[in-house]
Amino acid sequence: MCSIEPNLADITIGEEISSVDTIVDGYKTYQVVRAALELGLFDWLDEHGTTPREDLGAALSINGMFTRSFFQTLVDLGFLSGKDDHFSNTGKATRLLLQGSLAYQGDWILNTSGNAGPWNTLKETLTATAPKNTGFSAGPDSRFLRALGERSLRGEIQGVTKIIEAWEGFRSATKLLDIGGGHGLYAIAACQQNHGLHAVVFDKPHVIELTREIIGSYGMADRITVVGGDIIHDDPGSGFDIVMISHLLYKFRDELPLIFGKVASSLNQNGLFVSNHWFCGPVCGEGSSGVRELDRSIHSYGHPLCHPEEFAGAMFGQGLVITKKTTIPSNFGVSHVHVAEKVPEGSIHALRPDEPCGCMSCR
Ligand SMILES: C[S@@+](CC[C@H](N)C(=O)[O-])C[C@H]1O[C@@H](n2cnc3c(N)ncnc32)[C@H](O)[C@@H]1O
Repeated sequence: MCSIEPNLADITIGEEISSVDTIVDGYKTYQVVRAALELGLFDWLDEHGTTPREDLGAALSINGMFTRSFFQTLVDLGFLSGKDDHFSNTGKATRLLLQGSLAYQGDWILNTSGNAGPWNTLKETLTATAPKNTGFSAGPDSRFLRALGERSLRGEIQGVTKIIEAWEGFRSATKLLDIGGGHGLYAIAACQQNHGLHAVVFDKPHVIELTREIIGSYGMADRITVVGGDIIHDDPGSGFDIVMISHLLYKFRDELPLIFGKVASSLNQNGLFVSNHWFCGPVCGEGSSGVRELDRSIHSYGHPLCHPEEFAGAMFGQGLVITKKTTIPSNFGVSHVHVAEKVPEGSIHALRPDEPCGCMSCR
């Protein structure tokens, strides 16, 4: 059998290679920003101001052979401005990449490549039969929670806070409970809008130290307390005017009646319950697309909540009657906010939950 050797001179790789280059360059660009964050470049420049390239490289122990191209990449990304071989932070870097900035996104960036994170081990994530790190004592770690807080500050916290503020009982409310509150930013934002409001953030015992630290950094330690526990087994307390849950319920799809029962017991009569979660998926016209949708899927344990009418029905079964349904933008498409009130026993039979939506995402 004779084999014909391929003639390498006949191989053509044309314009279509640009998509390969875009992918690989994207990875390298990510690593440039990651390295800049890990080197503390933006914080150093903020402290020292415009600096000659060689001094900046020396201050951060960067080998001189890389400084030109490394800094230039950050200039191209709009994070540094470089003139006459002197460099400083741009406004964008100061807002997004400077630790201490309210809009800081550094943990969001660094968390993506976390060693055991779902994106760094994507093949394992995709082929695992069940999501990992779902046990009570596993996760979330502090970088993940900080990253979540940074993501939420792109609009979700503002959106949920506006909805809570619009409730007629908000001004006279004195106690709020955030179940699975993690970073604590929802409780902090609500307390900033009503100076008479005190809050409890309920989360896993190994998480609350970070929650406490973040609350302290916003000067709210005297008004917001943290309580460690497991919402499935423990009692988060009672006498609350407002209870909220955000992005916690995906893994508790089968325990909604139990959790809504706890919400109802925690709430005062006529108190407010606010839920913020993703629902359904692209097959129902929800969500985002491509890589963002995959991220949303990973974040919501396989797929988000489905069948909003069953969700509403589970609340209804515990005496929580939905008064408002709305959506707020999130970076994975819209998130659904359900607002419910705890109605007096006896009046609930007058109200009906929603009709089935015919959702197919959970199939
Ligand atoms: C995805 S994070 C959401 C954080 C925040 N509510 C938000 O929307 O950005 C889920 C939070 O619920 C907490 N959590 C998970 N299981 C819990 C449980 N069984 N009891 C209490 N908190 C829990 C996690 O520790 C984490 O802080």
